[in-house]
Amino acid sequence: MKPLRGFKDIIEDSPLFSHIEQILKHSASQHGFCEVRLPILENIELFKRSVGEHTDIVGKEMYHFDDQNGEHIALRPEGTASCVRAMINQGIIGRETAKCWYTGPMFRRERPQKGRLRQFHQFGLECFGFTSIHADIEMIQVAKKALQSLALLSHCELHINYLPCQSTKDLYIKSLKSYFEPYKDGLSDDLKIRLEHNPLRVLDSKDPAVIGMIDHAPRLDDFYNTQEQEEIAKIKSMLTALDTTFSWNTKLVRGLDYYEGLVFEWQTDLLGSQSAVCGGGRYDQLSALLGGKSWPATGLSFGIERLVLMMQALNIIPQTVRKCTILCHEDQVQKAFEIQSFISYPGQISIDFQFSSIKKGLSRAVKQGANHVIMIQDTLTLKNLSNSDEKSASSPQELNQLLQEQL
Ligand code: HAM
Repeated sequence: MKPLRGFKDIIEDSPLFSHIEQILKHSASQHGFCEVRLPILENIELFKRSVGEHTDIVGKEMYHFDDQNGEHIALRPEGTASCVRAMINQGIIGRETAKCWYTGPMFRRERPQKGRLRQFHQFGLECFGFTSIHADIEMIQVAKKALQSLALLSHCELHINYLPCQSTKDLYIKSLKSYFEPYKDGLSDDLKIRLEHNPLRVLDSKDPAVIGMIDHAPRLDDFYNTQEQEEIAKIKSMLTALDTTFSWNTKLVRGLDYYEGLVFEWQTDLLGSQSAVCGGGRYDQLSALLGGKSWPATGLSFGIERLVLMMQALNIIPQTVRKCTILCHEDQVQKAFEIQSFISYPGQISIDFQFSSIKKGLSRAVKQGANHVIMIQDTLTLKNLSNSDEKSASSPQELNQLLQEQL
């Protein structure tokens, strides 16, 4: 039986998954974020009130059902709402600052394609209690550092935008609606709904019929009040001072309703249409919407599958993901165990003592993705599978030396 469409067993990619999670955890801890473990099931109201009833995520893509007690339950499509709910329950909202990270599966019933799954994994960071834009800048810096550690930064571009406060938004929406009014009948049903319930989301439509119209639509930049203009100027100058290059993208409105203030996405051109690898922004109004006190907050999430795909596209094999296989016949197992415990290798060292010939053992090691093979015969042979280079050694010490030279 196969897994459901859009769901995946992660087997061969799991070392890469662990490596990525490790790097993200390390970057988060270095910036003072602590782990929280949150439920996968929540009452559906949580997502309706936070992400928004009329967003695609809640309106079309959420998995939900009534449980045996008739409670309406949803599989979480994202982690921010649960994190805010947890912080309200802990009494942190309205009282303290907190910085947390979480990782785990999220569920969205989208049309599956490369980089888009129905069960996918996010690594998220949320920061509560800081009004200053320095908290938003720190978020961007954490993500930048993590992407750098994963050797992916040079393949990502940072897009940012500023979603205004309600009064500015109301003025802008009025102007946007009247701009689209003459074209309304020709719009798709989806766009008509967006224009009615969530007009800013018209701006990120990929519908070729409206892209030209959007280019000539009223620009958000022309509507910001003085305070917003000052904050935007500060954000731009801080990012420039930190050598963080960015594109100001007025069409970046994000697919979740809770944002207000700086929003951003790290995008790549390595993954086709699923270009966003990390997205986030400020959501100061969310805790009040969920029944807590009003409390400033900002956050982001990485999509782990997309980071895995990027590393594979770039053929990046981190040291910890490397594999070394020791091939030996049954009568040499003692020697193989000695070598296994003696040599220092950053990744996995396994012993294969069940093969009929060296040739078959080698081909199995290749199939299993080994990077190095050690063959125990009369001598010890180290084979580098990336260039087929072979070297002999007479002792485990010498073998280890050869191996270190190759790493
Ligand atoms: P999001 O942009 O919806 O934001 O998702 C974050 C990341 O999850 C995306 O950039 C993408 O890499 C990944 N992702 C989303 N959907 C899929 C999918 N179907 N398949 C594979 N990967 C996917 C949020 O979820 C917000 N909670 C982020 C946030 C945290 N904002 C503030 N704090």
